[in-house]
Amino acid sequence: MRRIGVLTSGGDAPGMNAAIRAVVRKSIYHGLEVIGFRRGYHGLIYGDYTKLELGSVADIIHRGGTILRTARSPEFMQPEGRKQAVEVIKASGIDGLIIIGGDGSLHGAVELEKLGVRTAGVPGTIDNDIACTDYTIGFDTAVNNVIDAINKVRDTATSHERVYVIEVMGRSAGYIALMAGVAGGAESILVPEIDYDLQEVVERMHRGVKRGKLHSIILVAEGASSAMEVAEVIKEETKMDVRVTILGHLQRGGTPTAFDRMLASRLGAAAVDLLRSGSHGRMVGLVGKEIISTIYEQALQQEKPFPEELYRLATILAI
Ligand code: F6P
Repeated sequence: MRRIGVLTSGGDAPGMNAAIRAVVRKSIYHGLEVIGFRRGYHGLIYGDYTKLELGSVADIIHRGGTILRTARSPEFMQPEGRKQAVEVIKASGIDGLIIIGGDGSLHGAVELEKLGVRTAGVPGTIDNDIACTDYTIGFDTAVNNVIDAINKVRDTATSHERVYVIEVMGRSAGYIALMAGVAGGAESILVPEIDYDLQEVVERMHRGVKRGKLHSIILVAEGASSAMEVAEVIKEETKMDVRVTILGHLQRGGTPTAFDRMLASRLGAAAVDLLRSGSHGRMVGLVGKEIISTIYEQALQQEKPFPEELYRLATILAI
């Protein structure tokens, strides 16, 4: 192995830069050359790449986003696009490719493997919806961004004695809502993984008002419902003063937390080691305290277990 490539694909996630840095520095440490493809699979198709040196990744560990840029490439979904990407890969002289991204990006890696390209996957998405790793890069920062927002909303919610319905990202997963809801002390958390009854939410609010609560925070995962719809029902049922906050892409930006920087550094380095060892077609991940690797199929087909006991605890604590 002489030369490897790296790209970031799909929605960006804080910590991706730390992962790129780890890939580059670990590779160079072992005498390998590294090239970075820009805008994910788009860069593979159009041969948009640059050589990455030690200095190329200086001063980025603390930055959100990705210096390689990212994209969701419709062309790569087509066989012709993938064929073109393989031509570029051959011409670029790389012996392996590290793909940092979420579910869609890892599916792309599976397609490249079918065409004979050696790849290693690094899970990077704020959604934390990938199995075979306890955490994905960016999730912890996103949760902290949401908690920061809840803290701020709480101040004004208390002053005005209002109900706030806050909608958070996560695509079809409720991890961000659950973790931020527990850590932020939300009164109710609505996630797609668990059936909910808005009447129960309303009753909990009535109980809260009776015991002198000044506000209510309801956290809605985008995959469970829309904050607007939930707010309409609550307004109708309680006649309380209800406001909606949709956090949107604020959740995906900002300086990565120490946890995400650590995770990204470890996973990026592990992906290099995986390729160096002659292995490929696998995703690296963190399970417990250990860095492990799993074949893509397992990581993509297996349902990530949702921590239902944590959800129950959240309900108890918001009694
Ligand atoms: O997958 C990351 C994510 O931020 C999801 O939580 C969200 O549903 C989606 O991407 C938003 O995508 P876009 O940035 O294309 O609007």
